[in-house]
Amino acid sequence: MKVMAVFGTRPEAIKMAPLVKMLKKEPGIEPVLCVTAQHREMLDQVMELFDLKPDYDLNIMKPNQSIGMITASVLQGVGEVLEKERPDLVLVHGDTTTSFAAALAAFYHMRPVGHVEAGLRTFDKYSPYPEEMNRTLTGRLADWHFAPTARNRDNLITEGVAPERIHVTGNTVIDALLQVAAKPYEFEEAPLADIDFANRRIITVTCHRRENLGENMRAIFSAIRDVADTLADVEFVYPVHLNPKVRATAAEILSGMNRIHLIEPLGYLPFVKLMSKSFMILTDSGGMQEEAPALGKPVLVVRRETERPEAIAAGTARLAGVERSAIRDAMLSVLTDAEDYRRMARAVNPYGDGKACARIVEILRDAVWEHE
Ligand code: UD1
Ligand code: UDP
Repeated sequence: MKVMAVFGTRPEAIKMAPLVKMLKKEPGIEPVLCVTAQHREMLDQVMELFDLKPDYDLNIMKPNQSIGMITASVLQGVGEVLEKERPDLVLVHGDTTTSFAAALAAFYHMRPVGHVEAGLRTFDKYSPYPEEMNRTLTGRLADWHFAPTARNRDNLITEGVAPERIHVTGNTVIDALLQVAAKPYEFEEAPLADIDFANRRIITVTCHRRENLGENMRAIFSAIRDVADTLADVEFVYPVHLNPKVRATAAEILSGMNRIHLIEPLGYLPFVKLMSKSFMILTDSGGMQEEAPALGKPVLVVRRETERPEAIAAGTARLAGVERSAIRDAMLSVLTDAEDYRRMARAVNPYGDGKACARIVEILRDAVWEHE
């Protein structure tokens, strides 16, 4: 059975790498890896860490390109690879434009689609944008749905997906996180090597969502400044996403500040070490809402809503919204109220136990039998 995995951005690569590696070891499965390179540098960092070499690299990234351009390039590029490889199954991940366009290409070539990280929903078409619609449409195109949680499965059932096509597996991000967290690593370069993690409280920040670009991002960054000005033992470390729009706002509001370190995107290994050494996390990332609970780190989510409510229910994540004062107050509460911090800093695993890839491979193994 030929299984072709397609991904193109940093988070998809992190979450698909352990699965692709496991598929490579599976007798009866011939894996093909096609990367779109919707991200370039941030994808390559992950490929190197997991020692993955693609069979096809579409190299589609152009600076600041539109969502429409990404869709068109992926649709055409993946279509050509499908024509040549004719896989028995196309695996896509989550909610990026690479994932949706690759699933659409698979449909046009009448190839079955497996959707990893299926069933997450906010039910708000424009938030997160364009991810909510990307994953909803990918779900319509998919034949196999690998849902991280029971709640994700229920969302799909509500949309009319046949229950026998849905498998609750956990999220493969926990597989990746546990594999990487077990590796030794020491920071060697400034500023990380110079930070006194034992005596300072470090807040790791990331922010990149399209719906936060502009006014929301200015409010988020202003709240960070407010907290840095208020508490002298707090330092922020922010590896800034390579999106030029994000970088311009971050440089404008946060550069040149004491105790706010703007750095380049980190490889996944140093980034996991940074999260592990942090006091808390402030982010609009999807993946970090899943990783922080597993690491026992409080996470403040700078968005209005989330498709990942499990961590909020577990008490480790909190929606801080996108208003300057609300974000500042949410940070100050966790920083100044020890009881509040203790309640949030509990290691819980609502997103999986690190065995999601094994479950997916097991399901595909059964399919190989049927195939033969
Ligand atoms: C994309 C996904 C988003 C996902 C996010 C994860 C879409 C439309 N967006 O958003 O769902 O949550 O990735 O990070 O699918 N750039 C580089 N080098 C890189 C990566 C990006 O220079 O390695 C710059 C380029 O100028 C690029 C821009 O960032 O055009 C934006 O990248 P793009 O993939 O369009 O959107 P993201 O905001 O990264
Ligand atoms: N990450 C990383 N280096 C960084 C910032 C984030 O490796 O400098 C990891 C992070 O641990 C998570 C993923 O990248 O697994 C999140 O990617 P991103 O924020 O780009 O996308 P999202 O999670 O919002 O889809």
